[in-house]
Amino acid sequence: MANPAPLEPMTLHVACVDEIADGVWRYDLRAADGGALPPFEAGAHVTVWVPNDGTRCYSLANDPAERHRYEIAVKRETSGRGGSSGLIDSVREGDVLQVSAPDNWFALASHATEFLFIAGGIGITPIMSMMRHLDASRAARYKLYYLTRSPSQTPFLAELQAPPFADKIVVHHDGGDPARTFDLWPLFERPTKAHVYCCGPQGLMDAVRDMTGHWSASAIHFEAFTNPLAAPRADDIPFVVRLARSGAIIEVAAGVSILEALRARGCRVASSCESGSCGTCRTRLLAGDADHRDLVLTESERAGHIMVCVSRAKSAELVLDL
Ligand code: FES
Repeated sequence: MANPAPLEPMTLHVACVDEIADGVWRYDLRAADGGALPPFEAGAHVTVWVPNDGTRCYSLANDPAERHRYEIAVKRETSGRGGSSGLIDSVREGDVLQVSAPDNWFALASHATEFLFIAGGIGITPIMSMMRHLDASRAARYKLYYLTRSPSQTPFLAELQAPPFADKIVVHHDGGDPARTFDLWPLFERPTKAHVYCCGPQGLMDAVRDMTGHWSASAIHFEAFTNPLAAPRADDIPFVVRLARSGAIIEVAAGVSILEALRARGCRVASSCESGSCGTCRTRLLAGDADHRDLVLTESERAGHIMVCVSRAKSAELVLDL
């Protein structure tokens, strides 16, 4: 499979910025002329070029029927690569941002008549868009279980406690105490016709995955911009990538991804999530033994492809179709 076309960013204006929970900021993004933006469906995200020269994916929270704006919510991540903090610290109302057209890896099942939403913290963002869409279109029934630490750490809380959402949501605060974790098992014990959509911390998504093993796999949906396999490891070693078409030999140091090494040599490969979750950077692997760390490729695909944003090499050299 050829690499997908590179993302072409749009320049959007930041029409409004406000803090909607502790450390969570909402950005209202619009075209300079206020005109229509590329359409999206509930569950979609955009890629934003953040001030420290990287990209981050952010889910859209607004109703897809609003064609003139994108609404994203950004949480300050102290343990991340600094992109979200860079955005929060330096981008103000009136500034501009480079933003991709929307993409969707978390779309609502079009035939479903009932949805069960499970959100943890900032994971509410795509689900806000879904609920706004479902309320406006009356397309299906839904119920939301929204799990956070405290009211002040609950984005969109005031809006959710008012119509049309208030009678369709359960909000639970655990205060960070494992003993007060919400018991989800009664929701999943008996499979229903609902499609389950879960977005939140890895522990929450793992718990939902564990509790839904007896449901139809096609009815369980997760949004994950993070990939636990992608984290650098102490025993990562350097290796070499040979580009079959150009003949270039590129060294990939420990702590540097293949994608970053390619970029540093001026070789452009399309990317989006940069966490092995979206499939954008799929590249044909012609030779070598890859150390696959993505969440995208199937076992059979791994023989001939590699996600260069996260995967590495077990052999001294990989040969890529670039
Ligand atoms: S950029 Fe998303 S999988 Fe590599």
